Amino acid sequence: MSNEAISAKPENGRGFDEVANLAHNDGWAVVSRLEEKRSVGSGRHYVVMIASILLASCVAEEQPPDPNASAAKAPTEIIIRNATGAPVEYGIMPTYTENETKKVLGAGSIDRHETDIALDISFESGGKRLLYQLDPGKAYAFRMDLHDNLALYFGTHTREDAPDLAPFVPTPKSIVEKMLVLSDIDENDLLIDLGCGDGRIVIEAARRYGARGIGVDIDPQLIDKAIRLAKAAGVARLVEFRVQDATKTELSSATVVSLYLTPRANELIRPRLEQQLKPGSRVVTHDYPILTWKAAREESVQDGGRGRIHRLYLYHR
Ligand SMILES: C[S@@+](CC[C@H](N)C(=O)[O-])C[C@H]1O[C@@H](n2cnc3c(N)ncnc32)[C@H](O)[C@@H]1O
Repeated sequence: MSNEAISAKPENGRGFDEVANLAHNDGWAVVSRLEEKRSVGSGRHYVVMIASILLASCVAEEQPPDPNASAAKAPTEIIIRNATGAPVEYGIMPTYTENETKKVLGAGSIDRHETDIALDISFESGGKRLLYQLDPGKAYAFRMDLHDNLALYFGTHTREDAPDLAPFVPTPKSIVEKMLVLSDIDENDLLIDLGCGDGRIVIEAARRYGARGIGVDIDPQLIDKAIRLAKAAGVARLVEFRVQDATKTELSSATVVSLYLTPRANELIRPRLEQQLKPGSRVVTHDYPILTWKAAREESVQDGGRGRIHRLYLYHR
C-alpha cells in the first residue's frame, strides 16, 4: 500500500483489513459500465488533482509557459504483487476497452504492466467478481483480508528481491507505549523493529526507557523520516535505522523484537527468530500473532480509550 493511501488514515489506526476497506470504500466510482467498478485510491486525489489543474491554469495566465521546458513524462508502469501464499488469477485490460487478458500470478511474484493509461483489473473474491481501476506509476498487492478473502491493496514497494511484508500502517502512540510496557523494556535492552515504518517504536523505546534500538524498513523515505525524528527526539546516539529487507536482518544481538506485520509475514520471519534469538529475549507483536508459538501474555487494548481494539502478543524465547 502506498504511503499516500495510508496517510489518508487517521493516527488512531486501523488493522490492515480496514485499510483495504478504506481504499475500497473511498474508491472513486468510475463512469461505469459496471456498478461495482472502483478506483483503488482516494476520491480526495481527484479533488486535489482538479484543484491543481485550476491552480496551474491561474498561474499559467501570469507566467507564459517556457518553450524550452520539456513536457512532464507520464508514468508508464503498473506493478502488481501477489503477497498471498497461492497463485492468483486475474483479468486486466485498458480502461474503456473489452480486450481482457487473463493472467495467473504466482505466489510472491510481481507482474509489471507497461502502460501510460489506467488499467481495469478483475478477480474473484468471496464468490463475487471484483473490478478496480489501477493507475500508472502505482504499485498494488494482492493480500488475503481478515476474512480470508482475496483483496487488492496498495503495494509497499516494487523490489523483486524482497517480499512485501505489510503496508505502512503506523502503530498508534498509545499502543506503542503498551507494547514497550508489555515487553518490559529497559536501558539494558536492544530492540529491533522489523518493518519499522517511521521508527516510532524504536525512538520511543530509546526516549522513555533508554533502550538501544535498530529499525529496519524497505522504504527509504520512511527510514529518512525515522532518522530525522530520532535526531529531533535527541536519541540518535542510541538508535540506528537501515533500509533493508527485514527477512534478511541479523537478529542475534536483539533482546526484544517488535513486529507489526501480516500473519504470513510473521510466518516468513519465524524461523529466523527461532534460530537467532538468544534465550531470554522477547518478541512483541501487534494485531497478528505468531501462529505456531504460545504467547506468554495477550492483551486487548483500546487505542487511547477510543478507536478500535488492538491485540498485543508477548512471546519469550
Ligand atoms: C504495518 S507497518 C509497521 C510500522 C511500525 N513497525 C509501526 O508499528 O508503527 C509495516 C512496515 O513494514 C515495511 N515492510 C514491508 N515489507 C518489508 C520488507 N520486506 N522489509 C522491511 N520492511 C518491510 C513497510 O514499509 C511498513 O513500513
